Amino acid sequence: MRTQQKQKSTPRRVEMLFIGISIFFVMFIGMLNSKALGTVYNQEPMNVEEVKKEELNVEKDQKSTKNLCQPSLNTTEPSSPYAYVWVMGGINENKPAYKGFIWDILISARLLCRTGSTADKWLYVRLSPESNREEIPEEDRKLLTAHGIRIIHLKKSRTESFGQITYDKFHILNMTDYKRVMFLDADTIPLTNMDYFFHLSDPDHKDTPTILKPFFLYATLKEPCQGGMYMVEPSTWMYEKYVETVKDQHEKAKDLPYPHFNKGIGWGYHFKQHRDHWESISANMTRWSFYAAHIDQGLMFYLAKYIYKDVSIAIGNKLQNWKPAKGIARRKPILDSLYFDILEKYQPPLLAYQFYCDKYKFDRANYLSIGKEWKCHPPYDSIAHFAGGSKPWQKTFSLYRLQPSTIRRMKRTYSANLYAPTNLWWQELVAMNDEYKLGIDLEHWNTKVLPLMEESPLGARALYKDQAEVIANVGQDIEEHKEMVVRSE
Ligand SMILES: *[C@@H]1O[C@H](CO)[C@@H](O)[C@H](O)[C@H]1NC(C)=O
Ligand SMILES: *[C@@H]1O[C@H](CO)[C@@H](O)[C@H](O)[C@H]1NC(C)=O
Ligand SMILES: *[C@@H]1O[C@H](CO)[C@@H](O)[C@H](O)[C@H]1NC(C)=O
Repeated sequence: MRTQQKQKSTPRRVEMLFIGISIFFVMFIGMLNSKALGTVYNQEPMNVEEVKKEELNVEKDQKSTKNLCQPSLNTTEPSSPYAYVWVMGGINENKPAYKGFIWDILISARLLCRTGSTADKWLYVRLSPESNREEIPEEDRKLLTAHGIRIIHLKKSRTESFGQITYDKFHILNMTDYKRVMFLDADTIPLTNMDYFFHLSDPDHKDTPTILKPFFLYATLKEPCQGGMYMVEPSTWMYEKYVETVKDQHEKAKDLPYPHFNKGIGWGYHFKQHRDHWESISANMTRWSFYAAHIDQGLMFYLAKYIYKDVSIAIGNKLQNWKPAKGIARRKPILDSLYFDILEKYQPPLLAYQFYCDKYKFDRANYLSIGKEWKCHPPYDSIAHFAGGSKPWQKTFSLYRLQPSTIRRMKRTYSANLYAPTNLWWQELVAMNDEYKLGIDLEHWNTKVLPLMEESPLGARALYKDQAEVIANVGQDIEEHKEMVVRSE
């Protein structure tokens, strides 16, 4: 009997062993395969939902790099009066360069959740016309959902451009389920809980005084409005005004020579005729000639200041509050109140400093030459903007830069430029890579991953020639214009 049993069990054991080896082999080939395809991930994010359940037991801890966001539900019901919104285009499953922007959004969501934000998070996505898909890849959707981000798909357009995406930002005006919506560029990260902007602009939020208007913009060195972040009060009225403004512009552009934008009247306001000027850190000007005046930065400035008029504008440490003048015919708003160094009183602690702002405040003598003091006030220091060539995912990386000993050694220069926020970005990516077993090969980043990430899907800036298609697509109710108004350069 005993011997018989033994004889029976041996083949079974061999069989099990064989199955085991086969499974291992299949998995191994699978991993090789996905690498050969040149994807960024070695495998799909594993069991995102399951991992999430474990995470819910983690206590809120600012230092932990774990994802503390609640997974987003498949619903459009707001869970807060406020929302953050990102917009992304150029998504093409065959060109992984877009992943960098997705990671940036995920990292932003993690930082917001960690610092205690309770606002909703939305992402508008537009797939590339070259994509074979109708929705974003499942691996992206799972991660976004696990980070509390809800997704809205915009229609694929016939062509795509950077310029088009800048118009997609204006969808936030139509998010009328929310009291306030803050737009964030997909190459920015918050460095603190940005909910305080919502609270400071909301009379119903009793814990804080209302020192901000329902719209909030900020100027830069040479522009009256920076398109990387702004806050609006959504309304059907404003959304319609936006569509109308763009439609008017399109009509007028037909008769204009290249670049089809009148720098005198811009989107519909002639500064000189109204004895008015726009203001940036470095200058007061009367022409619509600043960077991106012909697209989002100019359009948002026009809509906020000359249509809505109830707007706060930060210019360095100065905060201007504007209101409509009495008499509807008056286009020029009037200054309601003016504050200096006010937002810092309400800004929560920062996760990282940039442009030497930590040192600047205490050691002006040594850091005075930097000339960037205006960047050391909120909202400038509340957010890091990886503009142009400073995107972390388009640069070389070494795990060495995250080691505590490296950071200690760097103490003097750690807050220079965007170094510390870049480190924060990498810390989060490393954590996310571990947590969701993404398999991004961070050890061989420079040779294996970076080459796939280097070129932004839509180029680095908006061109005048992007205009035609864009304008033709604005607002779903605008008929498609077949004739190309703006010819390429
Ligand atoms: C979300 O809900 C819609 C309709 O309510 C459904 O069609 C869709 O499949 C759902 N998506 C997921 C990922 O559950
Ligand atoms: C721009 O004009 C305002 C007054 O409207 C003034 O306070 C400010 O100093 C001026 N800025 C520059 C850079 O000249
Ligand atoms: C604006 O939002 C409403 C719902 O609030 C929606 O029905 C409408 O289609 C949106 N308009 C555009 C152009 O997206």
